[in-house]
Amino acid sequence: MSRKVRARAHANIALCKYWGKSGPLDTPATPSISLALDSLTTITTAEMIDAADDAVVINGKVATGIERERVVRYLDIWRTEKLIEGRVRIESENSFPMSSGLASSSSAFAALATALNELSEVRITQTLLTKLARRGSGSAARSITGGLSSLSNGDDPAARLLVPASDVPWGMVVGVVDSEPKQYSSREGMKLSEQTSPYYRRWVLQARHDYRYMLHALRGWDLAEVGEIAEENSNAMHACMLATRPTLMYWQAGTMDIMHSVVAWRNEGLKAYYTVDAGSHVAVLCHIDDLDEVTKRMQAVPSVVKAIANRPGGAAVLVAMQ
Ligand code: DP6
Repeated sequence: MSRKVRARAHANIALCKYWGKSGPLDTPATPSISLALDSLTTITTAEMIDAADDAVVINGKVATGIERERVVRYLDIWRTEKLIEGRVRIESENSFPMSSGLASSSSAFAALATALNELSEVRITQTLLTKLARRGSGSAARSITGGLSSLSNGDDPAARLLVPASDVPWGMVVGVVDSEPKQYSSREGMKLSEQTSPYYRRWVLQARHDYRYMLHALRGWDLAEVGEIAEENSNAMHACMLATRPTLMYWQAGTMDIMHSVVAWRNEGLKAYYTVDAGSHVAVLCHIDDLDEVTKRMQAVPSVVKAIANRPGGAAVLVAMQ
């Protein structure tokens, strides 16, 4: 009987965003830094099967179309690299909504890569595993290492753990707003931005600059400085997205409500800073001691459907089969 393995990974939200990539290895155009979030998880079970095709089940449903293709193409990378041989059955469960800018691909491909690594006969380092996760989804590389992690631009970069989850004094509250699945995936959106946004080149330069300042601010654990860079970096990325043709307007009215609310809370003395990925939900960075207060305020914003409080999440791990 074939062996079943199970892995868990936390989604991450970037404080310095990756937006843009190139080449056969999907090299990121911008360096990024993220925090893994403990309430947002994907658990993936994998086993080798004696069948003509891979089997992919996501959140209890057999995946079809693009969703299935993306996973099968990823399995093909592992097969081409001779890390696995034959067909695989994958079953994946998310603790949060997918395809809505809640970084589901980060935890999904990190959990999948971790499970495949366990199925593989070949032993690889964590560094190589982050590179393989990156080829599934750029942000997934940072979910392999968890905590505060970085992913640089340049040739075939690996993610690097900057600070483990247990040493990070900050968390994030995610404000979920009403939204449809997004119109353009990150992958399609990045390509469009690179090809058509008049601000793309400027964004790439700014992102590299933000990254250096962010590393410096993190060394001093300066929440105000880190938060301000994160907000500005998020806004710069969205400026590039908005100027893309066709426009990439991931924000909803609720997104704006939360951003304005966060600025108002800050004016009242609460250290809270927003950041928005390629979607409509908003992640708010704050000190762990302020998580309850920020969650309470987030729940009171009229357009917020749900507030999810997160402490820092750890690295991707294998979990025991029950
Ligand atoms: C805005 O990692 O989802 O969340 O590599 O195409 O799968 P692919 O993209 P993905 O893009 C993440 C974009 C972002 C910023 C970030 O997480 O750094």
